[in-house]
Amino acid sequence: MTRVLMVCLGNICRSPLAEGILKSKVDSTKVTVDSAGTANYHIGKGPDPRSIATAASYNIDITDQRARQFTVEDFDEFDHIFAMDKENYKNIIALARNKTDIDKVALMLDILNTPEKKEVPDPYYGGDQGFEHVYKLLDKSTDLVIKRILPHLD
Ligand code: 4NP
Repeated sequence: MTRVLMVCLGNICRSPLAEGILKSKVDSTKVTVDSAGTANYHIGKGPDPRSIATAASYNIDITDQRARQFTVEDFDEFDHIFAMDKENYKNIIALARNKTDIDKVALMLDILNTPEKKEVPDPYYGGDQGFEHVYKLLDKSTDLVIKRILPHLD
């Protein structure tokens, strides 16, 4: 079993979409996907209605997800931890206990290998089109996660 964790700030906008998209593309008997937030603002809440609507428009149901905060135990529970932006990355790394922990963490869009667009922009204070943009970035990057990091699952 390969275990993948998607992390953003609130765990209500970006990482729930990332979790839902990757889950929709992998065999759940081989890959576990979860998400968490570095902040504690929204613990126990469902995804933002705009994330739910965007996912639904691609036939992905994320309504059952509930926000939780990233904890140091997540380094033991997951093989790959993807941070949506640099601030989240920094906050995850600050909790790392050793190099093994650090090596599990990557910036989600690093996998796109483009000089720009290193961060999945926080869509919380913007309009609906921000969520569509986030969806497209995550759709592309999760394809590459499957190709490069989970190649044995093809
Ligand atoms: P997320 O978006 O990190 O993609 O879940 C946010 C959600 C809530 C807040 C910020 C970003 N907030 O400030 O409450």
